[in-house]
Amino acid sequence: MTTIGINVNTRAVKISVEPRTHLADFLRDQLNLTGTHLGCEHGVCGACTLLIDDMPARSCITLAAACDGAHITTIEGLDDDEITTELRAAFTREHALQCGYCTPGMLISARDLVLRLDTSDEHAIRVGLSGNLCRCTGYVGIVRAVRSVIDERRKRGIPPILGAGRERLGPVGSCNGAGTGREQAGLSSAGLEEERLGGTTTISDFVPDKVFDEHFTVASPPDKVFAMFGDIEQIAASLPGVSLTGNPTPQHVKGLIRVKLGPISAGFRGAARIERDPNTLSGRIVGTGNDQRSRSSTQGEIRYRLVPINGGIATRVELSIGYSLQGILAQIAREGLVRGLAARLTTEFARNLALRLSGNAASAPTRQAQSIDSASLIFEQLRILVRKILRRTQNG
Ligand code: FES
Ligand code: FES
Repeated sequence: MTTIGINVNTRAVKISVEPRTHLADFLRDQLNLTGTHLGCEHGVCGACTLLIDDMPARSCITLAAACDGAHITTIEGLDDDEITTELRAAFTREHALQCGYCTPGMLISARDLVLRLDTSDEHAIRVGLSGNLCRCTGYVGIVRAVRSVIDERRKRGIPPILGAGRERLGPVGSCNGAGTGREQAGLSSAGLEEERLGGTTTISDFVPDKVFDEHFTVASPPDKVFAMFGDIEQIAASLPGVSLTGNPTPQHVKGLIRVKLGPISAGFRGAARIERDPNTLSGRIVGTGNDQRSRSSTQGEIRYRLVPINGGIATRVELSIGYSLQGILAQIAREGLVRGLAARLTTEFARNLALRLSGNAASAPTRQAQSIDSASLIFEQLRILVRKILRRTQNG
């Protein structure tokens, strides 16, 4: 058996596999991801197509053990993907499926074409889909569906992405696999991760393992607070331990957050997708990050809502924080510790935000290089515990 660490649909998975197990069997049998279908098992029919490191690949002729370190996206991981959603609707509209057996693989290949092709050239689409066999439809509806999605997107001004968003060359999975691929590419793991989490990478939704709420108030009206929340650089500067690692856009940010949990210092390097709704003064940030030193990874989601208080001159900021943690830190970071960390982070963020909103940014400490130290949190929790015990003793 070989132990591999891969990221499947943005979730880090560490598992033992037989060296001869192919990726499709591994996903279907061990992870229950049965959306990846198996037809020929010889790399001919395309039913098993999925994305390895964002590139379409045949999972029936890919050994799971060879994917150590790779990012796998199956059809289940594209549930909320914009292009796949448009393709699904077009497939239904154009009667592009009958039994549906080829459809998951077909959608993944079609998505790649929608990303890459400048125009809806029928010949190019047929060539692009020639590795995906369909025994039912005769392909006419499939080609029509793909053409319509390309046409609609180009009409909406969405250009093709050169190389379909792939920033690396080489065989599928070659850059992220353990060992030679990395060294040949001349990239550190952290560098690869940063590259992977660049502006063109889709950050998928996920179901957090833990969710909790926080809130704070600021003495500024909601619209002013909402405008500040749109200023990524100001927000990052208000968050202790956070620094940006690239130029943010209104929808996307790359960064580094340093934390210290017990004896372990970690620096999670990652990226986040930003969504904002000015009508409801709410927003959502979904991010993912990895710490190479502790071999831990995390996914996080922060939802916020701004509620006017005191007749609208102040704001209550309501937060819902969700996260999943994998790796060594997951064993150390008990929920209470993470919640304490989040509470501390929220308090400091609220204080810095208030200073910036009042125009006293200079007084707000620049904490970018400073990590969030959990030692004081542990003592804080101990203090609370001791206080509780004393109170119980006094009452008893
Ligand atoms: S099952 Fe993989 S190509 Fe046919
Ligand atoms: S819809 Fe049946 S194989 Fe394509």
